[in-house]
Amino acid sequence: MRTHVVDHPLVAHKLTVLRDENTDSPTFRALADELVTLLAYEATRDVRVESYDIVTPVAPTTGVALARPRPLVVPILRAGLGMLDGMMRLLPTAEVGFLGMIRNEETLKASTYAERLPEDLSGRQCYVLDPMLATGGTLAAAIKFLTDRGADHITAICLLAAPEGCARLEKDLEGLDVPVTVVTAAMDERLNEKGYIVPGLGDAGDRLYGVVG
Ligand code: URA
Repeated sequence: MRTHVVDHPLVAHKLTVLRDENTDSPTFRALADELVTLLAYEATRDVRVESYDIVTPVAPTTGVALARPRPLVVPILRAGLGMLDGMMRLLPTAEVGFLGMIRNEETLKASTYAERLPEDLSGRQCYVLDPMLATGGTLAAAIKFLTDRGADHITAICLLAAPEGCARLEKDLEGLDVPVTVVTAAMDERLNEKGYIVPGLGDAGDRLYGVVG
């Protein structure tokens, strides 16, 4: 597994405002959207393209377009939805599949409660959107789900990551014969006893969409 922390002043600034507890939901959503677009630029460096011929007003030349099958963008519900528009801005012709995963707050174990994805993901590059790589359980389960269906290239885009989550991913995905890359805006210090990232930004779903009782 490869981890890429995007080191850029605009990324750091947007992340700082996201972290601030005084940032309201509308601002949080708008900034998360912008931040994802910046991360997506880095995350799509290896997106598969194929060449095709065009004619400019001056001369024929060869350009590139996204290869088929199209990449699949997979937001993990619910908080990953807040990253979808920012990602699709850069990959408007990608397809989108949905994966609902929930973390039991006591056991911290992840389970799937909904999915809307093609049965066969052979030859697909998948971009998984999950804002917080905390314990790593949810992301590891999502990646296994996708590779079990044949996905052969996985990039996870996370606003924030914790070292514990990265270590867990490494361990859970050991032996997986599919390249996995995590692209994130920052590697934070640690998890607290409740599994929250420190210093983090709190509960990403709540910050995006408000608290669900
Ligand atoms: N999920 C969140 O939304 N925030 C954390 O800090 C950890 C998991």
